[in-house]
Amino acid sequence: MSKQAVLVVGGAGFIGSHMCTLLDAAGYAVIVLDSLVSSRHRAAIPGVFVEGDMADSALVERICRQHRIDAALHFAAFIEVGESVRDPAKYFENNVIKTLKLVEALRAASVDKFIFSSTASVYGLPGAEAIDESLPVKPINPYGMTKLSIEQALASYEQAYGFRSVRLRYFNAAGADPEGELGECHDPETHLIPLILQAASGRRDHIKLFGDDYGTPDGSCIRDYVHVLDLCRAHLAALERLNAGLPGDVYNLGNGGGYSVLEVVEAAREVTGCEIEVRREARRPGDPDVLVADAGKARRDLGWTPEYGLRDIIAHAWRWEQVLCAERGAPAQGTPLR
Ligand SMILES: NC(=O)c1ccc[n+]([C@@H]2O[C@H](COP(=O)([O-])OP(=O)(O)OC[C@H]3O[C@@H](n4cnc5c(N)ncnc54)[C@H](O)[C@@H]3O)[C@@H](O)[C@H]2O)c1
Repeated sequence: MSKQAVLVVGGAGFIGSHMCTLLDAAGYAVIVLDSLVSSRHRAAIPGVFVEGDMADSALVERICRQHRIDAALHFAAFIEVGESVRDPAKYFENNVIKTLKLVEALRAASVDKFIFSSTASVYGLPGAEAIDESLPVKPINPYGMTKLSIEQALASYEQAYGFRSVRLRYFNAAGADPEGELGECHDPETHLIPLILQAASGRRDHIKLFGDDYGTPDGSCIRDYVHVLDLCRAHLAALERLNAGLPGDVYNLGNGGGYSVLEVVEAAREVTGCEIEVRREARRPGDPDVLVADAGKARRDLGWTPEYGLRDIIAHAWRWEQVLCAERGAPAQGTPLR
């Protein structure tokens, strides 16, 4: 029997590259479309790689027909909240207009299964201890708005055209391939765990703690960190759901437990054995005190349970940080803890 062919759009990025490896191992034929607009680190990804923009309809249709694409997984987006506030047009163009063009080209090529990377940012400031999918969606920045716009379009496309989609709302994606082959490499990096590990390895002097007067036990914000491989396993389960003929839906993906910024720093000190300097700064606007997922729906419908906890996430990301340091010809040289 021939393999099911899947198109991974944005497959050269952090989460997409891990997804390609998992799909390949699970027996899918992987075809990647990525413009490399934000992938400085060209990952070693399996399958066929096509460099191009997701809004290039003729290219997308050609790829679909040539490779008999049966389903598409979408990771291609701009992802920085702060930049989206400064330059919303850039975000609406790439994350909304281009994504809708991609969907049109897929529909024209009779692809009708789609998995979409959404985000906890769609909830805005939810004000609940654990966030489930029944809470109102009220994004407070353009990044979250772009993701919600696509979620809503996809829900109506399913009703009207039978274009089935699973929308996955990730909380804080982190970690790396445990073998050290792949990992996170954003430029600029804005995510907490890679920044902390850059401070541990000596690539950066310190990390900034934005606000220490939140309504949490140590005053720093609490977030839900989920390992990139756990996210990818949820995508695989979502794909199987669509393959089984079930309807699309929306799911939160998180560990269901939160850690404060200061707790993450402390765990990173223990895992790396290195000093990490923290400098306190003013709060950033729009950061909720606590964002923790209730991922019970994904557990029930997709049979998904995250395997990795915070220490695994940090240990795997630390291995990757050492790979990045070695690639730059400057092995990790952090200050050992006294
Ligand atoms: N990283 C997180 O914590 C997180 C959290 C929630 C949601 N997400 C979502 O997950 C997805 C993947 O995030 P990531 O961290 O892997 O990002 P990333 O920047 O590492 O990867 C995105 C990839 O998409 C490509 N791309 C962007 N625009 C494109 C276009 N028009 N055509 C073709 N390729 C294009 C980029 O070159 C890059 O390789 C994004 O949609 C993001 O919004 C990420």
